[in-house]
This record gives sequence, structure tokens and C-alpha cells, in this order.
Amino acid sequence: MRTTSSLGQDADRPGTANLPLFFRRWLSDPLQMGSIVPSSRTLCRRIARLVAAGGEGPVVEIGAGTGVISRALIEAGIAPERLVLVEIVPEMADHLRASLPGTTVVCADAFALPQHLVARLPGPVGTVICGIPLVMLPLERQRQFVAQVERIAPGLGFLLYTYCITSPLPYRKLGLEAVREAWTPRNFPPASVWRYRPLGPPAG
Ligand SMILES: C[S@@+](CC[C@H](N)C(=O)[O-])C[C@H]1O[C@@H](n2cnc3c(N)ncnc32)[C@H](O)[C@@H]1O
Repeated sequence: MRTTSSLGQDADRPGTANLPLFFRRWLSDPLQMGSIVPSSRTLCRRIARLVAAGGEGPVVEIGAGTGVISRALIEAGIAPERLVLVEIVPEMADHLRASLPGTTVVCADAFALPQHLVARLPGPVGTVICGIPLVMLPLERQRQFVAQVERIAPGLGFLLYTYCITSPLPYRKLGLEAVREAWTPRNFPPASVWRYRPLGPPAG
């Protein structure tokens, strides 16, 4: 029997939100999860639209959780083989592997990306999506994250979904420029998608 959750997703189809797993993880480490429920269908589709409109190449999703954004990316026409899903929680990584065949799942810490990813990337990275709760981390840790992304995708920057209306990152201090690309009230809580790019060297 197929059931439908309050988020409008099939609860027993592989690759869907897996609310019990998500909630259990939130209970055990709320700061690491950053959210009590997975991203909504609307938010996932907004992100997928931005990614699909971008270039070719691997899409690295950091903090893939139970895979709701990954699935939306596939539904938007991005081949599973382009998806490299990074998730720190082994149980969630196992769920991603079981439910999203064809993707590359890397159970690793976002702060050790190069050592885990470089050999597994099928080409120059096209897009990086960040889902880890960066906003809760101190500036020095945010700097380290930006440096990690720069090493796997020089000059590219990343998309970050967040519940802040204003930029969740002090982007100038991090040497980044910032553009808010999307906002939706149809998420709990309402969410924005920001694009951060490294600032080029000063002109002249
Ligand atoms: C807000 S949830 C997002 C999950 C999913 N992408 C979604 O939109 O529903 C954040 C995810 O990032 C993972 N995470 C947190 N810190 C991480 C880290 N340092 N490295 C890799 N993943 C991390 C958590 O385990 C969790 O699955």
C-alpha cells in the first residue's frame, strides 16, 4: 500500500523523504540536522530549476539527508550519474544508496571534501549545493567550508538554501558575492536559495 505524507510525498516509495529517519536524526543531533523535516517539494523544485538552468558537469549536493532534493534534481532531468551526494550520517548515506540508484553517494564530512571527492568526480563540477546548517557555524568554520568548495570547484561557489530572509552568511568577510535566487513560503520554515561566488581579484 502506498501512503502519502503531510508533505505530499509517497512515504513508502524508495527515495522519498523518510520522515522517521529524518526525525530520529534531528532528535539525536538537532544542530547537525538544522531542520526538523526535510525540504518541501516546492523548495526542492526551485533548487532543481536553478541547477537545471546551469551548466553541465557533476552536481555535488552536500548534506543530502534523505534525498528529497536529489530526487527533484533527477525529476528535473538531471541524470543520476551526474549526482554526487555527500552525507555525514551513515544511515542516511545507506538510505540514499538504496533509494537513488545511479548516483554516487559519499559518506563523508563536508569539511574533508577534497580527500573524499577528487577521485570520484566524473569531471569538472557544474554546481555545488549546500544543505548543511552553515549559518549555525562560527565564521572560521564557514571560511573552512568555503575553502573546501573552492578546492573541488575553483571559482564556482555554491547554492545554499536557508530559512533567513537576509544573507545567512557574512559574505564579504568570506570573500564572496551573494545573490538571492529564490524564495518560497511553501516550506517549513519559509526558505530562500542564495548563490555565493568567490569575489574576483580587485580590478586594476
Ligand atoms: C537541513 S538537512 C538537509 C537534508 C536534505 N538535503 C533536505 O533538504 O531535506 C542537513 C543535512 O546535512 C547533513 N550534514 C550536517 N553536517 C554535515 C557535514 N559536516 N558533512 C556532511 N553532511 C552534513 C545532516 O546529516 C543532514 O542530513
